[in-house]
Amino acid sequence: MIPYNRRLFLEKLLRFGAGFTGLVLLNGCTAEYVYRQPICEEGPVLKLLPPDTGLTLYGGDEHSIRWVAACIDFVRIEFSRNNGIDWMAIAEKVQAAAGQFSWEVPQISSELTLFRLVEISSNKVLDISDAPMVLIPKLLLVLKNHPELGKVGGTLTLDRPVFGMFSIVRTGEATFKVLNLNCTHSGCPVDPDNNGESWLCPCHGSQFSKLGCVLRGPARRPLSVYDHKFDPNSGQLIVYNILSEPSSC
Ligand code: FES
Repeated sequence: MIPYNRRLFLEKLLRFGAGFTGLVLLNGCTAEYVYRQPICEEGPVLKLLPPDTGLTLYGGDEHSIRWVAACIDFVRIEFSRNNGIDWMAIAEKVQAAAGQFSWEVPQISSELTLFRLVEISSNKVLDISDAPMVLIPKLLLVLKNHPELGKVGGTLTLDRPVFGMFSIVRTGEATFKVLNLNCTHSGCPVDPDNNGESWLCPCHGSQFSKLGCVLRGPARRPLSVYDHKFDPNSGQLIVYNILSEPSSC
């Protein structure tokens, strides 16, 4: 028989991860397995598993939220986009034993997203992400569905939730510029001008080239551009809701 303090140590070791249903007692060269029920008098265990912090998640992607649980039947999964001020349910009632839930990331922007796990029977929050995650909306365009972009120099203007009006210009075989169509003077939406060869702001008269460079003020900065990625093999253009000033103008 192994000493009592060693048994205690082994018991604690095996309870880590909350999947504890038994205890292995090492007795010399012999290993023996002793079945026991989970110890639930210490309360339920529900803990998010990494990675649940410091991630960047893109709208429309699937993200697996994972956890360990013991002595608990059902869990509600919630997320907050404002660092824990407001919470929304991702899933109302999930078997705790499932240990994971596949979440379709919503098309919203947030740098302060947290998850939390709630035990349904007591309505108690048992775990929250340690640090915020970033959510970035994302659009996927299949080029063959947009013949306007079939040739270099082609342009396409679209209006999409979250993104608003934006224009895609094909600048090369595999290169594009994706322009945000809000004037950089005071934010008015610009209109196409000069048969689509430039953009004109109706508020104070700024004019921008087809590629967003300033032709006439009062705007001083070119139109902002969205981050994007093009896969020539699949012909897919992914546009991320991340704006920056263009490097060339
Ligand atoms: S907002 Fe466009 S010129 Fe002023």
